[in-house]
Amino acid sequence: MESYNVPEIAGNVFWVGAKDWNRRLFDALIPLPEGTSYNAYLVKGEEKTALIDTVNPGFEKEFETKINTVSGLEKLDYLIMNHAEPDHSSAIRYILEKAPNAVLVTTERGVKMARIYHDIPEERIRTVAEGDSLDLGGKTLRFMEAPWLHWPETMFTYLPEDKILFPCDFFGAHTAQGTFDEEIEDLIPLAKRYFGEIMMPFRKMGAKALDKLKDLEIEMIAPSHGPIYKNPKRIMDAYAKWTAGETENKALVVYVSMWGSTGELVRTMVETLLKEGIEVRLYDLAVSDIGNVAQELVDSRAVVLGTPTVLAGMHPLALHGASLIKALKPPAKYGVLLGSYGWGGGAVKQAGEILAPLNLEVVGTVQVKGRAGAEDLKKVEEIGRELAQKMKG
Ligand SMILES: Cc1cc2nc3c(=O)[nH]c(=O)nc-3n(C[C@H](O)[C@H](O)[C@H](O)COP(=O)(O)O)c2cc1C
Ligand SMILES: [Fe+2]
Ligand SMILES: [Fe+2]
Repeated sequence: MESYNVPEIAGNVFWVGAKDWNRRLFDALIPLPEGTSYNAYLVKGEEKTALIDTVNPGFEKEFETKINTVSGLEKLDYLIMNHAEPDHSSAIRYILEKAPNAVLVTTERGVKMARIYHDIPEERIRTVAEGDSLDLGGKTLRFMEAPWLHWPETMFTYLPEDKILFPCDFFGAHTAQGTFDEEIEDLIPLAKRYFGEIMMPFRKMGAKALDKLKDLEIEMIAPSHGPIYKNPKRIMDAYAKWTAGETENKALVVYVSMWGSTGELVRTMVETLLKEGIEVRLYDLAVSDIGNVAQELVDSRAVVLGTPTVLAGMHPLALHGASLIKALKPPAKYGVLLGSYGWGGGAVKQAGEILAPLNLEVVGTVQVKGRAGAEDLKKVEEIGRELAQKMKG
């Protein structure tokens, strides 16, 4: 392709990223129903030019062409690295080779990561720290350390003259659609899904970063995935709630069932919770998108897990789901474990062990041999009512 769309998102600030329309998996784990974008930005001052982040492997040539559309790559002075993960940094070497005068700008932690991943010559690196800035002539780039969002070296870049925040993955959303937030009707759910997948385990660091942002005037948020926010308040308010771990009167129910026995326990639980006025989100892990589970974990107050025993342990898909739930550190307070077995059992015990680090209050556990009898279902209903009371209380 000869010519690309390179939108000017503010005066002399250009989006030069790439859209990966057909990508369907991220981190070899997370489904991407809408693809994703790797946003990178070129900021042209009166004297100096800076590039903020780069693109995923495979998009180098397109990236180079876009930069050259706006400003010759050989004139580039700074390449800001907010994050060392390859979706934003893999093209650093490529760019530094084509831009002989450019230096890589990142924090001390960023330098360490850049050494590990991108093998950058020392003389091409400039280290910055919290509050440092670069004067581009009429435009300033100020750096804020924002560690563990979601790697140790993450930082934010702020452009005070245009009041634009470049927070890299923070405030991101996986979708290739749209340039600005106003174009995407369901952007907040997509951002929530992204938060659940990527940022939720680092909620406390996220809250700290948000606190620092309070002192800034922000008119635009330009993240590294998904649309640019012209209305930053909406996503900032959502992040305030999500990082605080505020939950809704909602139970996330995830399960697997081969022959329907665990499924019957699960459905009894679901109907009981619904009768008690609890919102329910139900996912059969054999057929569900795990990204939806991550999204619902962001503000679910309870997690119900159902799994049959397979070879003395959990069904492998339930094991996968439970491991992911544990790793994502959701703010849920209550748990219920349900399962069916044929002879020796073992799944429910294993599920309890896997979820133990979350410190959920386990309101009840029901294991049945084969199909549930009337007594078993009554017990599930009782646990469901007790769970509902606790959730509402
Ligand atoms: C492949 C396979 C392996 C199983 N392994 C065990 C096992 O190790 N221990 C056990 O108690 N039951 C085992 N079972 C029996 C199931 O746990 C039992 O049929 C259970 O009721 C299935 O629940 P479901 O209807 O929710 O799938 C196994 C069943 C299958 C199909
Ligand atoms: Fe990342
Ligand atoms: Fe990313």
